[in-house]
Amino acid sequence: MQPRPAPVPIGADQAVQATAVKPVMPPKEEIAAAVHAHKEEIAAALLDDTSLKPLPESVVLTVKNTVPILRKHGTVVISRFYAMLFERHPEMRVHFTMDRQARGAAGAAGVPAQVAALSRAMLMYAAHVDDVAALLPSLKVFSTKHVSRGVRRAQYTHVICCLLDALKDVLGDRATPKVMSAWREAFARLGTLARIVEDDIRKKAAARAGYDGFIDMTVVEVHHDCDGVEIVMRPPEGVRPDADAGMFLAIALKNVPNMGRTMLTANILRAPRGVLRLRIPRNGERANEFLIDNVRVEMALRIGMPVGEPKSEVYHY
Ligand code: HEM
Repeated sequence: MQPRPAPVPIGADQAVQATAVKPVMPPKEEIAAAVHAHKEEIAAALLDDTSLKPLPESVVLTVKNTVPILRKHGTVVISRFYAMLFERHPEMRVHFTMDRQARGAAGAAGVPAQVAALSRAMLMYAAHVDDVAALLPSLKVFSTKHVSRGVRRAQYTHVICCLLDALKDVLGDRATPKVMSAWREAFARLGTLARIVEDDIRKKAAARAGYDGFIDMTVVEVHHDCDGVEIVMRPPEGVRPDADAGMFLAIALKNVPNMGRTMLTANILRAPRGVLRLRIPRNGERANEFLIDNVRVEMALRIGMPVGEPKSEVYHY
């Protein structure tokens, strides 16, 4: 058990300020605004789902009031969250690129990439908790990543419990029953939003890929260069995945030294005649380095579904 961090003292200067809240919109109207703003099929899936309930105005106000604290201490909350998650549920590590826990993202000095990404998402959610139209772009990005990594519904409970406990630890005296119950409701609604968006993304990804989740494919070509490797993957008989350049997928690996099972993200360069041409960049992450150094023709690799937006320029990271 790791020692609990001392609660962050919150002085008068950081006292939460009441933020203006618009009247709670019925979900149909809130989501219709998202459909209008994004003209997206995903927003249409949200509109069709009847399980999405509006948040009470008091919850919206209480969550928005924590925005100044999250702006200041969000990365502390999220660092605490990840420590709790991996201590309580070590089996969940396999979905994550664990090296992104340690390494900073460009432009976020000293803050690990995963901590920076999740604390930005949490702040965004707090500030726009009653505005699906504003949340949709961020929701779509992380839901796409979740689908690629095979995140399951049941895992949301673990994540939300750890987020709430981390928030409570860091807020200290400010974690009143009212604040905690508002965040519990807000996270539950975020879980519902993510379920609807992820189901939509997963269904469409599976239809295009011709498989759902992960399948074994065979390496048929390997081309090394200075920055990484390009590989061509042949799917099993009868599967002809369709994908565009710029989409991405996850590769699940076993037996990576000092890591065991883990995942990495590969870029899709092309998908000609049902084979997938992928690029794995050398980016200093152990999973990438291991695969680049060890991939061989005829090897079987566990490949996730292609997801994401096609791009004319392939995104290397
Ligand atoms: C309240 C719920 C959640 C929120 C707000 C959330 C948010 C995020 C965000 C913002 C990212 C970064 C996306 C990017 O920029 O690439 C992300 C990535 C990810 N999330 Fe979640 N997530 C949630 C729940 C979960 C759950 C339940 C899992 C279960 C395993 C999970 C696993 C992952 C993984 C594996 C990644 C990719 C990380 C990497 O690159 O290694 N998340 N999530």
